[in-house]
Amino acid sequence: MSDLRRRAVFAGIGTYLPEQIVTNAQMAERVDTSDDWIVERTGIRQRHFAAPHETAAFMGAEAGRKALEAAGLAPEKLGAIIVGTSTPDNAFPSTAVQIQGALGAKAAFGFDLAAACSGFIYGLSVADAMIRAGQVESVLVIGSEVYSRILNFEDRGTCVLFGDGAGAMLLVARDVPADGPGVLSSHLHADGSLGEILYVDGAVGRPDKPGHLVMNGREVFRHAVTLLAGAVSETLAASGLEATDIDWLVPHQANRRIIDGVGKKLGLPPERVVVTVDLHANTSAASIPLAFAHAYEAGKIQPGQLVLLEALGGGLTWGAALLRL
Ligand code: COA
Repeated sequence: MSDLRRRAVFAGIGTYLPEQIVTNAQMAERVDTSDDWIVERTGIRQRHFAAPHETAAFMGAEAGRKALEAAGLAPEKLGAIIVGTSTPDNAFPSTAVQIQGALGAKAAFGFDLAAACSGFIYGLSVADAMIRAGQVESVLVIGSEVYSRILNFEDRGTCVLFGDGAGAMLLVARDVPADGPGVLSSHLHADGSLGEILYVDGAVGRPDKPGHLVMNGREVFRHAVTLLAGAVSETLAASGLEATDIDWLVPHQANRRIIDGVGKKLGLPPERVVVTVDLHANTSAASIPLAFAHAYEAGKIQPGQLVLLEALGGGLTWGAALLRL
């Protein structure tokens, strides 16, 4: 008898980015900022902003469709859809169930998950647990966000940092040997006492407030590198691995300086860290699958390789996951 265990195995990835690209120079026409300031402090050069029809459900469905096609899985065979989003089209139905309808994924259940920029890691962790428990055979984990709709365009300290987009990863159940593919572990954290350093000041339950993103950038920065490096170390330790064993770090794309800081703390060479913040800015829950797809479709991330994902977001929430392709 061979020693096999059930794992959630990567089967395909898909993305959607709004057609409209907004450069730093274009942002400088709206607020008192400059390309130099934005590039130097964040590494961001451009972002995509959604047109009215490009909602979280629309973009998530497009990304999900591409991930299913890439994996060769018919939508009606899909087991579940989990969507990380802070910017749903409606309070309900959930974005996930709207996507289920759009894809014709008749057998799938679905739900949204609110963990801000950590939404994809949280979603991947839940999907992994459900697959390993034998509850479901395949899960589309999607991050889909339209932060352009919650940005305060009077606040130059935040409105230049974010963009819109969606990414979807299909995970499927496989019985594999210990050194085989799949999610090896995931680790989630939260600290509600730090809620006031990054939040949206409203939602449909508070009709007095339209809801704009509010951030104390310095405080977020101060916590980010330490908490993320801690989550990454914890994830490596859980599999008895060292940072040198990682083929790729795919971090949440908030800020080049945070990404470099984590890479440096782990002693990872920059060429093994995937960076797309220059192209997409911070797309919150969508940023990890967008970055993953960028490297995967360029032939960088390859079968058999070890990929570490990490994110931190409003809450605070943060976490990391290790995946062998
Ligand atoms: N363009 C030009 N100047 C700007 C600006 C902009 N877009 N935004 C802020 N400034 C100015 C400030 O008004 C301030 O000017 P002052 O000194 O005259 O008051 C100066 O730049 C410094 O502001 P500060 O907020 O202290 O800058 P910073 O060095 O902390 O950089 C961030 C700001 C947002 C880039 C940085 O704090 C950061 O990256 N934080 C993490 C944010 C993040 O990634 N959040 C998401 C996590 S999911």
